[in-house]
Amino acid sequence: QGLVSFDPGMFNTAVCHSSVAYIDGDAGILDYRGYPIDELAEHCTYLEVAYLLVYGELPTPPQLSAWEAEITIHRFIPENVKKLIDAFPYDAHPMSKLMSAVSSFHTFYPESRESDEQHRPELQIRRLIAKMPTLAAFSYRHSEGLPFVYPVDDVPYVENFLRMLFKMGEREYRPDPRLVRAMDVLFMLHADHEQNCSTTTVRTVASSGNGPYTSVSAGIGALFGPLHGGANEAVLRMLREIGTKDRVPEFIAGVKAGGARLMGFGHRVYKNYDPRARIIKNTAHDVFEVTGVNPLLEIALELERIALEDEYFVKRRLYPNVDFYSGLIYEAMGFSPQMFTVLFAIPRTAGWLAQWREQVTDSEQKIVRPKQIYTGHPRRAVVPLDQRG
Ligand code: CMC
Repeated sequence: QGLVSFDPGMFNTAVCHSSVAYIDGDAGILDYRGYPIDELAEHCTYLEVAYLLVYGELPTPPQLSAWEAEITIHRFIPENVKKLIDAFPYDAHPMSKLMSAVSSFHTFYPESRESDEQHRPELQIRRLIAKMPTLAAFSYRHSEGLPFVYPVDDVPYVENFLRMLFKMGEREYRPDPRLVRAMDVLFMLHADHEQNCSTTTVRTVASSGNGPYTSVSAGIGALFGPLHGGANEAVLRMLREIGTKDRVPEFIAGVKAGGARLMGFGHRVYKNYDPRARIIKNTAHDVFEVTGVNPLLEIALELERIALEDEYFVKRRLYPNVDFYSGLIYEAMGFSPQMFTVLFAIPRTAGWLAQWREQVTDSEQKIVRPKQIYTGHPRRAVVPLDQRG
């Protein structure tokens, strides 16, 4: 079979050159285009960070105004995509609706299929970043049996998303600015994470010549899995199952005995405290000031305290990751657990698109086609049906 290295999960295989994000897992560092994530979270908004990821530089004030105006123009979704969302069973997971809706854009915007100049990637990038919150809000309201709320032009990106989600009856929903800021920070923290499972999927699908909608739709599918974006939903299930703070030691003993994984802990790359988890922990306190404390918080804090001192976790370098506290915040803000992964997918779209473009414009790239190590039967002759048995 020639010289083949066996690398399941691609632990040791670099598949691209990328200038989008940098992670030092041992030091617990994450930078976007050279900027530390904590500085971006402190000084920027999500749309500034999306611009940074897509174009490589933070926008100047006029560039940001133009970018925000263009994103605003594209917030509406085609009427038939609305009908597509409406056609799903009421209990369909919003991630399934999101995946289907994004892949349907490939048919609504045919120019995205061309691989030449007409491809107009700038337009597709704006469309997708603009429409994700609308798709997410419509998917959520469909699950809840609520009428859709349309985007409005004079409200910023994140606030507009919260208004589309939570408007009840005739009354306007005006979210507390602290909740809007918290969501903006969470969006920034989730915007990119170099070659994770979903980004690798986006690049793989792009490598066969696909445009952004098909590629990002596949990325949403990869993110859906509980070991990737679905982990924060699993964290809340776990915290509920534990039930009370005094049952934490018993649960940890079960994890160590191989009964279950401690969800929201461990990371393929971070062998130190995930820098995003640190920021999210602070954001949680800001949110709880508005919403009141999520009662599951004390179980989470106790889990973290015990795990960080326990030899099993210390030896394997397992620390809280981005998902450990985010679910607690989302729940306190009124999101149903099914929406948690959607709240990951919306901001990650900027990162996926930056990486999609890097992939399709990189002359070194080839169609992704890994090797395998065959473990099946040696070659043999087919026995005709009447002679088998
Ligand atoms: N709880 C208990 N043990 C664990 C955990 C955990 N959460 N994570 C890893 N381990 C153990 C694992 O059993 C193994 O032990 P041993 O060496 O004795 O066999 C060792 O640590 C290494 O685990 P691994 O599965 O080889 O590590 P990985 O890098 O392939 O997996 C991971 C990374 C994130 C899938 C894993 O840590 C995990 O399943 N965590 C829980 C799910 C989770 O929180 N996922 C969110 C990831 S962050 C968001 C994102 O980037 O999408």
